[in-house]
Amino acid sequence: MRDRLNRLKLWACFLLLVTGIASAATPDGSAHVRYDAANRVFRLDAADITYAFGVNDRQELQTHYWGGRLQESDTLPAAKAGVGVASFEAPDNSTLQEFAGWGEGMYTEPAIKMTFPDGNRDLVLHYVSHTIRNDGFVVTLKDISREVFVELHYSLDAATGVLGRSAVIVNRTKAPLTIEQAAAASWNLPPGNDYRLRYLSGRWAAEWTLNEQKVAPGKTVLESRRGSTGHQNNPWFAIERGESRDEETGEVWFGALAWSGSWSISVEQDQLRQVRVTGGFNPFDFAYRLAPGEKLTTPVFYGGYSHDGVGGASRLLHRFEVSRILPLAPYPRPRPVVYNSWEATEFKVNEPGQEALAEKAASIGVERFVMDDGWFGQRKDDHAGLGDWYVNKDKFPNGLKPLIDKVHALGMDFGLWVEPEMVNPDSDLYRKHPDWVLNFAGRPRTELRNQLVLNLARSDVRDYVLGFLDDILKQNDIAFLKWDYNRNWAEPGWDAAATEDQKKVYVAYVENLYSILRELRARHPKVEIESCSGGGGRVDLGIMHFTDEIWTSDNTDPFDRLSMQDGFTYAYTPGIMMAWVTDSPNWVNKRTTSLEYRFLSSMQGSLGVGANLTTWTPEDFAVAKEMIADYKQVRETVQHGELYRLISPQGGSEYSVTESVSEDKRQAIVFAFLHSSQKGYPFPNVKLRGLDAERQYKLRPMRDAKASGAPQVASGAYWMSHGLDVVLRGDFQAAGFVLEDASR
Ligand code: DGJ
Repeated sequence: MRDRLNRLKLWACFLLLVTGIASAATPDGSAHVRYDAANRVFRLDAADITYAFGVNDRQELQTHYWGGRLQESDTLPAAKAGVGVASFEAPDNSTLQEFAGWGEGMYTEPAIKMTFPDGNRDLVLHYVSHTIRNDGFVVTLKDISREVFVELHYSLDAATGVLGRSAVIVNRTKAPLTIEQAAAASWNLPPGNDYRLRYLSGRWAAEWTLNEQKVAPGKTVLESRRGSTGHQNNPWFAIERGESRDEETGEVWFGALAWSGSWSISVEQDQLRQVRVTGGFNPFDFAYRLAPGEKLTTPVFYGGYSHDGVGGASRLLHRFEVSRILPLAPYPRPRPVVYNSWEATEFKVNEPGQEALAEKAASIGVERFVMDDGWFGQRKDDHAGLGDWYVNKDKFPNGLKPLIDKVHALGMDFGLWVEPEMVNPDSDLYRKHPDWVLNFAGRPRTELRNQLVLNLARSDVRDYVLGFLDDILKQNDIAFLKWDYNRNWAEPGWDAAATEDQKKVYVAYVENLYSILRELRARHPKVEIESCSGGGGRVDLGIMHFTDEIWTSDNTDPFDRLSMQDGFTYAYTPGIMMAWVTDSPNWVNKRTTSLEYRFLSSMQGSLGVGANLTTWTPEDFAVAKEMIADYKQVRETVQHGELYRLISPQGGSEYSVTESVSEDKRQAIVFAFLHSSQKGYPFPNVKLRGLDAERQYKLRPMRDAKASGAPQVASGAYWMSHGLDVVLRGDFQAAGFVLEDASR
């Protein structure tokens, strides 16, 4: 590795001497980073993209180009600042800056805004210097007169062309200053007035709704003011040029913010119809006092480009997450088939009950048994116990060991539910440390689900949380933690901090959360973690760096799940999307569905079972055993393959179909769902995608799935051009098909 770096450095020096171009490249030439000193242009090339920005004639850093990959021989001219169109526009409004300070006369969204102790609020950032790294740049900007520096970090993923951008703000003045707004980056799109924005919204038990709207003059703000990522919006966007025919065509720019606290992404079309997307810490109620010599590092805002539509964009993101973000990247372990006791028992967990469920779960091929809420403190319901992380002796007289041993003897590993950041007022912890929660002194403390939020920004709280989790993992043979988080913030005060530092809680809380997760993983490298927040309330690329999987939603209705899972996969890889088969009628809406339908819906992600197995019939066990065995044959493809959303379930569609293709294109899985037959029309013909046209594939229907007139073996070209005529009639029907390389 060091050798490679040295070679890169030598190569960079040589080029700089000969051409005025300093550059670094991966040995195979697939990614390239270079600075053209003559034109002062920074350029990054990887996969199918080129990203370029330059220092303009006003010394600002200006976006030059973001789109399809240019030829090596293409030279980008020096950047030229825009000129204001009238006396009503200061010039800094007409230039698409990479990272604009709020100063001069700026009316568009700045990346950063601050107040100095003398009342000055003018910040004008000019280029000072840069360094070239083998995967990107660090470019330093400085205010025109004050010693305030901003280092912009750019890193490029060679395989996907996904860029990571973040900023480090450094105070080298002699007095503290207050940052009131700090984005990670602004992403500027090429001029155009025909953009369409897609984003995700939701609420508890209704996450992952895909929304689409025209980018119109004005601003759309996606955000969370909740202290954590939130169910309401997710920090992801995709913007498409024009209206394309389908998911697989058209130019798409997309981004995802790696931050699990309050965040904002604003999509703005300004008075010159320029479109910029600015994202980072949410400026609402934000203030970060930076003492002399101190730094503030923003989260990373990732961005990418695809010319294969929003389908291509999500596949790039999936690949990037699997190879760069997940804790075990680039080789995350396949998700085991899980059993979770929550819907079966709720808080009524005890040793014999859990052991009985474990025996049944093992009999159908489950690989991990997870005991959910209710095992600790005085936890009978959600009124008490959070904070008291000792085993409840009434429920488990001999501790957790007998249950864990039993689970192991049945051939499964053991997982445990925790909610480390919360406390019930009815707990020993709160009685001892009422000052440990987020609160404003002398004001009411709003309880939600009868609980308060521990202020993780405090170092004593951080140490306590890390300590008890470490103890649980040291004392028990546990393979997995389901890390839950069941409310959002209210009264976000940090009364132990100095008045001017109280709002640092928005940053310090999340940094400490990440540091606990990082430390736990280092101390217990075999333990896997799920991020759960009453379902999918904390899903982002920040938490994903420390957690192996996500609880998608508390809504486990298999039909509702189709559109939720569809929405999820626009931003996140299906490999981390946990999906349980639960009881029917479902608790959310009393909808009745067959066990096969429930399994096929859950097989679109990482399969789990959350039903009350004590009420199952022998037939149910037989179906489950067969379907779990089938899932194990295809899970690598479902979890880490290329996903094609062939027919969308969004907007109440009657049909939906997904296809996953393995990396080597030797296997593909198709899941087809019918909501309800209307007037006896046949299911639409389904043309597959992403196969090898010349390879012969054998069609294997799962259980009693049927495709009319389908040959047993045909070429990839046949399946992609002729397609599959799935036979489905009735209400809530589903079919699964596996295509396997026929030569195997
Ligand atoms: C919310 C989670 O999303 C559920 O799966 C379950 O773990 C409950 N919390 C337990 O309180």
